[in-house]
Amino acid sequence: MRVVVDNGPGKGRRPQTTTLSAKPPRTARPVTTLRAAVAADAPTLHVLIAAHLEEGRLLPRTLGELADHAPRFVVAIQDDKSVARGERIIGCAELAPLSKTVAEVRSLVVSHDARQSGLGHRMVEELGRRARREGFARVCAFAHDARFFVRMGFSIVPHTWVPEKIAHDCHSCPLFRNCGQYAIVLDLERAHALSGTGKSAAVGNRRG
Ligand SMILES: CC(C)(COP(=O)(O)OP(=O)(O)OC[C@H]1O[C@@H](n2cnc3c(N)ncnc32)[C@H](O)[C@@H]1OP(=O)(O)O)[C@@H](O)C(=O)NCCC(=O)NCCS
Repeated sequence: MRVVVDNGPGKGRRPQTTTLSAKPPRTARPVTTLRAAVAADAPTLHVLIAAHLEEGRLLPRTLGELADHAPRFVVAIQDDKSVARGERIIGCAELAPLSKTVAEVRSLVVSHDARQSGLGHRMVEELGRRARREGFARVCAFAHDARFFVRMGFSIVPHTWVPEKIAHDCHSCPLFRNCGQYAIVLDLERAHALSGTGKSAAVGNRRG
């Protein structure tokens, strides 16, 4: 691009002409798609979750339970010819039923190199859509840092508002009443209604 720089009057100099080099093209991020996990993904899920246990203060998962519950997971994948099966799993999240009406988002992880591009949101949105299809009224999550979920329209509530979680997991947990986690819930009907009005509450709002 040629740019003419005017140095103002009376300087007796000819206008300078500068050539700005065009910005180098941005390296396009590889396309990321979402799919339901299958049992064969369990070893990869195990490694991915284990690698972020401390950072996300995630619940440790065994290989066996990941294989058993694989279809509950959504995984984010990128084509990668250098790995087995030609795809790399770069994110995961599970929708675990706690009762007929409440399901929990668990084991939400995105690889470091794939963060900040909306993948975490897309996976939670996908699980929200799945939860609606499967007839759940609410989804919940438990996290030490609630900001990610709150920005998606979830609300922080007292743990006692999610008795299903207390019955399902907390009673048997050594940290019961002292875990430091926030209980975060999203009413799916309300979120769906809001998505129709263009207000916040992202679940159901965007396509994955
Ligand atoms: C939490 C975690 C899953 C988020 O993954 P992510 O893919 O980076 O999440 P997103 O990109 O959807 O959102 C992160 C930010 O990117 C922004 N963003 C960037 N591009 C975006 C896009 N195209 N669409 C939506 N959001 C976008 C979001 O606004 C969001 O900003 P915020 O932090 O101010 O809310 C990831 O940090 C992680 O794996 N952490 C370790 C494990 C963990 O903590 N798990 C959660 C335990 S509850």
